[in-house]
Amino acid sequence: MTAQTDKAPQRLGIIGGTGLTELEGLQIVGEEMPDTPWGAPSAPLVFGELGEHRVVFLARHGHPHRIPPHQVNYRANLWALKQAGVRQIVGVNAVGGIHPAMGPAHVVVPHQVIDYTWGRAHTYFEGDLDHVTHIDFTYPYHEGLRQAMLTVADQLGLNCSNFGVYGATQGPRLETAAEIVRMERDGCDIVGMTGMPEAALAAELELEYACLGLVVNWAAGKTDHIITMEEIQQAIDAGMSSVRSILARLPGQLYG
Ligand code: HPA
Repeated sequence: MTAQTDKAPQRLGIIGGTGLTELEGLQIVGEEMPDTPWGAPSAPLVFGELGEHRVVFLARHGHPHRIPPHQVNYRANLWALKQAGVRQIVGVNAVGGIHPAMGPAHVVVPHQVIDYTWGRAHTYFEGDLDHVTHIDFTYPYHEGLRQAMLTVADQLGLNCSNFGVYGATQGPRLETAAEIVRMERDGCDIVGMTGMPEAALAAELELEYACLGLVVNWAAGKTDHIITMEEIQQAIDAGMSSVRSILARLPGQLYG
């Protein structure tokens, strides 16, 4: 694979999660493993074209999938994408469904986040600073990007939720039934392990960021059985084509 040499601004950045370590349909033009002040990203950046539009893809858990959610170098990932000229990012996340309408293989474009993670490197604003910075994070996801994904989902006739509170947990274990009861009481609709600090770091870098969630299981205690990797894989197989088709049309919707 040739290294990316064209430094013209790239457009859409896509961070693929569990079940999406490669983007089919992406005409790959180059790959690059950049260095950042925060270390190396999870995988090389893959530069390519979706239709006529330039896209940069990054596998959040590495390729092959090997980095657990709490050990992803989120700071390096976001920094690398920004350094590559990306200004807009969609983070694809496999999640558990808490809301009754959000069962396996359902697609969700969440509008809010509650962060339950701990101990992750979660900010660029630390160390030897001139001043303390508190970014606004009232609305964690970029509304224009959210609406663009929802429009595309609608055009494709996909059943996709236009709201959802994403509860970000530490992992890598799944939750207890009681934790899910508490999260539901808090107002969470979906639960995942990788939504934070990614969204906040994107905001610190002034990147436009939104999440595309694929429900891969009912959250713990929402069924009468325990969660198995087989059922998760089945939901990924059933639902990832919806995610891929939204992503395929999204640059056209955003950039015309
Ligand atoms: N909980 C947390 N993260 C997840 C889940 C879940 O049930 N499913 C997929 N990612």
